[in-house]
Amino acid sequence: MTQAATPLYANPVDDTGFSLSPSARSPRLLELRFHPATVKQFLDQVADLPVQALEYKSFLRFRAAKILDDLCGNQLQPLLIETLVDRDSGALLITPEGLDDAGQAEDMVKFTTAVAHLFGRSNFDAMSSQYYARFVVRNEDDSDSYLRQAHRVMELHNDGTFVEQRTDYVLMLKIDEQNMDGGDSLLLHLDDWEHLDRFSSDPMAHRVMRWAAPPSKNTRRDVFHPVFGSDNRGRPVMSYIDQFVQPKDFEEGNWLADLSEALENSRGRLSVPVPVGSFLLINNHFWLHGRDRFTAHRGLRRELMRQRGYFTHAQTLPGASADNG
Ligand SMILES: [Fe+2]
Repeated sequence: MTQAATPLYANPVDDTGFSLSPSARSPRLLELRFHPATVKQFLDQVADLPVQALEYKSFLRFRAAKILDDLCGNQLQPLLIETLVDRDSGALLITPEGLDDAGQAEDMVKFTTAVAHLFGRSNFDAMSSQYYARFVVRNEDDSDSYLRQAHRVMELHNDGTFVEQRTDYVLMLKIDEQNMDGGDSLLLHLDDWEHLDRFSSDPMAHRVMRWAAPPSKNTRRDVFHPVFGSDNRGRPVMSYIDQFVQPKDFEEGNWLADLSEALENSRGRLSVPVPVGSFLLINNHFWLHGRDRFTAHRGLRRELMRQRGYFTHAQTLPGASADNG
C-alpha cells in the first residue's frame, strides 16, 4: 500500500506570501519578508493605480491594501494589527523581496501604502502636502533641523509631537543609498530603557510643555502636552523630541537635558541597518527612533520615505493610546 508523500517541511510562504521571524537584534523586532512572487503579483494587480491616483483618491490606498491582504490569504491584516499594538513587540522590519532598486521608488510607495492601510490611515504630511513624504539626505545640508543632516546623530524621539494629528505609527522606508557608511536606524523600546521608571514617575513627566517646530515643517501653531502619557492599561508612553520641545524655565530645561542624556546613553538602544527597499514600522507610543551618524563622502546620497498615521483598529485592541500627543 502506498501513501501520499508527506512534505518534508511546510513553507509558510506558500500559504501566506510572507514569512515572519524575530530579528537577531531584538526579539521585540519582527522581520517580515514578502516572497518575490507575492510582490510581483501585487505590483501587477496595482499596475493601473499610479501613485498619483493613491494621492488623489484616499480610498484607493485601502483598495491597494486589500489587494495585498488577499494575496496573503488574508493573514497579513490580523498579523499587522496584533503586532503593532503588542506592547512586547510593536515593531517590524519589512522586506518586499525583489523591490530593492531606487528605480522602483513608485512601486515602493505603493507597497508601503498597502501595508500601512491594513491597520491605519496615514496622516497628511505638512512637509510634502501628501500622505507620505520622500526626502533626500546629502553630504551637505543647510536645512533647519537634523532630519537631513548627515554627520550627526538624530537623537531618539517620537514623531507627531508638534502636530495635532494622532500619530500611532511611523513607517520609514529606504528608497536609495549611495556611498553610505553608517547611518543605521536607532530604536529604543521604552521597556528596555533602564531609566523609564525614574523619568516617567517624576512630577515633570506629566507637566504640560510647549512644542514648536522650525519653518520647514510647515506647521503654524504650537501644541501643548506632557512628555509622558499612559496607554489604556496604565503603562507609560512617550511623546518627545529634543529639538522641538520649548521648556519655559530653568527647571523644565534641565529636566529635559537629563532626559535626553538618559535616552542617548541607554544600553537598550538598538542599531538596525535597513537595506534599500526595506522599511521599519513601529508603534510610535512605546518605541523611540533616531538615526546614527554617517561618514562624510562627497557622493553621499540617501533617499527615504515616511508615513505616519493613526490606527484604525486600535479601539478594539489593547495597547494603543488614544490621547498621547
Ligand atoms: Fe522621526
